[in-house]
Amino acid sequence: MRLDRYLSKALGISRREAKRLVKSGRVKIGDKNKIAKDFSIKIDDEQVFVNDKPIEKPKEKIYIMLNKPAGFVSSTKDINPTVLDLIDHPRVAELFPVGRLDMDAKGLLILTNDGQFAHRIISPKYHVEREYEVRVSGSAENALKLTEGVKVGQHFFKAKKVEINRDVVRIVICEGKHHQVKLMMKAVGLGVVELKRVRIGPLTLDIDEGEWRELTESEVRRLMGA
Ligand code: URA
Repeated sequence: MRLDRYLSKALGISRREAKRLVKSGRVKIGDKNKIAKDFSIKIDDEQVFVNDKPIEKPKEKIYIMLNKPAGFVSSTKDINPTVLDLIDHPRVAELFPVGRLDMDAKGLLILTNDGQFAHRIISPKYHVEREYEVRVSGSAENALKLTEGVKVGQHFFKAKKVEINRDVVRIVICEGKHHQVKLMMKAVGLGVVELKRVRIGPLTLDIDEGEWRELTESEVRRLMGA
């Protein structure tokens, strides 16, 4: 990995700041006496020092798409099977789910070891869209009212988009409160028979149920809004 990228990841600073740090002469490599002059040199296993203190090697970030089946808990530990049980990855122990799907819900779940990324997706501040396909019981047309918004307890929930195809409601929302879709459906007199998340922001579910794959760099960048 290039030195500027290495520093940026290890210290949580921008590439520009990392380059400045190298230019300031405060970065040393391997032998403490060797001041790094070129921020584009490759770092493999050498120890990097900043202000003569060794810095920890940056952890490679992992981003995974899972098509979650019903019957798995979106958690890292539980008495029931968890989503981690579905992921055969050598560093699975580092992963956590980005938000949750209920145990009986299915579909797109992202897992990562990158806290900043998870925050970017979950925080209501960024209005990341979530799209669900919901098989409902009752008069599906009632779901159209959700574009005007419904009050549920202290919350006001409003759908960005609702489409109906027989008993299936396709709904887009921009936050992810606990049981939000079920609560919204209930508020307009509908029961949820099956709930599947099919999209988060620009990322659409494209693998079979129970499967997982790593996200590409460009998918991660797009999810981060870059
Ligand atoms: N809304 C719900 O009610 N459940 C989910 O799992 C996700 C969104």
